[in-house]
Amino acid sequence: MCGIISYCGTSDAVPILLDGLSKLEYRGYDSAGISILSENQSPLTIKTTGKVQELRNKVATLAPKHAHCGIGHTRWATHGQVSEINAHPHTSGFVTLIHNGIIENYHEIALKLAEQGKYPVSQTDSEIAAMLISHNYDGDPIKAIKRSCEELEGTYAFCILFADHPSEIYCVRNASPLVAVSTETGSYIASDMTALIEYSKDYFIVPEQHIAKLTKTGIKLLTLEGESKEPQMLHASWDAKSAKKNGYPHFMLKEIHEQPNSLLTTVMPRLKDMNISFLEEQIPDSLFSDFTRIVITACGTAMNAGLVGKVLMEKLLRIPVAVETASEFRYGDPILDERTLVIVISQSGETADTLAALRLAKERGAKTLAIVNVKGSSIARESEYVLYTHAGPEIAVASTKAFTVQMSALYLICGKIGIIRNLFSETFKSSFLQGLLNLPKLVEETLLLEPHIKEITHMLTDVQDSFFIGRGLDYALACEGSLKLKEVSYIHSESYMAGELKHGSIALITDKVPVVAITTNEETFPKMVSNIREVKARGSNIILITDQDISTCADIAEAQIPLPKTDALFTPFTVSIAVQLLSYYASVHRGLDVDQPRNLAKSVTVE
Ligand code: M6R
Repeated sequence: MCGIISYCGTSDAVPILLDGLSKLEYRGYDSAGISILSENQSPLTIKTTGKVQELRNKVATLAPKHAHCGIGHTRWATHGQVSEINAHPHTSGFVTLIHNGIIENYHEIALKLAEQGKYPVSQTDSEIAAMLISHNYDGDPIKAIKRSCEELEGTYAFCILFADHPSEIYCVRNASPLVAVSTETGSYIASDMTALIEYSKDYFIVPEQHIAKLTKTGIKLLTLEGESKEPQMLHASWDAKSAKKNGYPHFMLKEIHEQPNSLLTTVMPRLKDMNISFLEEQIPDSLFSDFTRIVITACGTAMNAGLVGKVLMEKLLRIPVAVETASEFRYGDPILDERTLVIVISQSGETADTLAALRLAKERGAKTLAIVNVKGSSIARESEYVLYTHAGPEIAVASTKAFTVQMSALYLICGKIGIIRNLFSETFKSSFLQGLLNLPKLVEETLLLEPHIKEITHMLTDVQDSFFIGRGLDYALACEGSLKLKEVSYIHSESYMAGELKHGSIALITDKVPVVAITTNEETFPKMVSNIREVKARGSNIILITDQDISTCADIAEAQIPLPKTDALFTPFTVSIAVQLLSYYASVHRGLDVDQPRNLAKSVTVE
């Protein structure tokens, strides 16, 4: 939530900041701004509402002089409406800063500052932070930052310019992410590596409550007391090409098409000698041998992957699995102990609610295993064990490839538990592993349906409401399909257990409310056909997603997405592709901003 970038070096800072902001725009895009600092001059701030392109236009008109030091921000509003005055950077006295996060005690600090006649001009918590640091500043940036951090509560990543230290940028963080890269041409810091990957693949994550001081010659990592610390270097396994559209019209479509490969890179390295191995990630077999229940917690799409995991694990392992929305987890006083395995799932590894859920699980003595895509992210670092998904950067706000690799990781975990606990016959084990091996091919085959799905999506172009229905695994996919559709097409959509509809919500069905019915399970197919007939009788147009033979009931759907046939356990991977393409083309047909839907941000770092 909010993207930040800073640069100090020998090149011109302005294009570096603007290019970085374009790459970070998926983190928030309601306003943007930069501040640049040249020797013997006070910082020049240029900001505007709207997207980074608006900022580029404004910068082009003002044509600022070359500067070698600067900070840039793209905002997702939390405190105060979208306006130029609320856009970052914010200045107070010698201090100009950008902020990602939320200052929870900003009101108390504002009152304290008001007693001294200091008032903000914006409605933001971030300006209060700038005022506090300025208030604590006596010429020593480190001291001012330390004193301020002692007072600030909440989450923050700050990049701070001090007007009387023109060739330096000071950065500090608490919970919100900051990654740093140093090259011959200068020092860079940003919210994530997508903005920096073209400069270097070697980076470090600024530890919480530490200061990174950027100068032309490099980055110094310091404690809040000013003592030097050695950064822990990491290496990105992807490159700049992965963060570009590569000829696709949108990142979402590119990422949908990347799924065969991301499944291959996530699953293959873990399948060894007809077994599942987590040796590389140093997850001991003992982790899987003695817990009595599993709790999966996550948000949004990641939580929907958890719903698939629950159905799968309860069926194959006969272990109780609860799926908890991370934003509710803490407040529900969850029952956790050392016999509980808590699996947290997060693409970004920075979702504030999921991080809070993980911390609570640890506090209560549960074992924790995180499924994370972003290497070195907060959730990955704080979880006892991590199983990384290898999807590469996911830029579109709507999650697609992250979802299928999260599911594949849950399948791997399920398989591992089944094998360790001797729950699988040899025949089942080998067909399960074969199913996993086959995933890239299966998804590739499903992608061939794209032209057909594009065509039938016209059924959704002019509607306002819709339903997704299914049973069992198909219900979990109905949840994901419905979320995806509303997120990118702004069509109101509800996901429902097919059998439950008649207990109230069927009242909403009319000829203006299409129903996407997902039915891949042979056992429940006849029941699903009845449920579909019930809504059809009320005028609804049906889009049927199925791998079943519908020759005896061909009249139940206005359109059908005929999935490739696969083992019933693996249908979530074919259905995912269908609902992703359906949502993508609904957005395209409606002429919307597919990759950056309104009101959203990729990484939700506020609770
Ligand atoms: O980074 P995370 O996986 O923790 O993000 C969780 C959700 O915010 C995310 O899945 C969100 O629901 C997606 N935008 C949906 O497409």
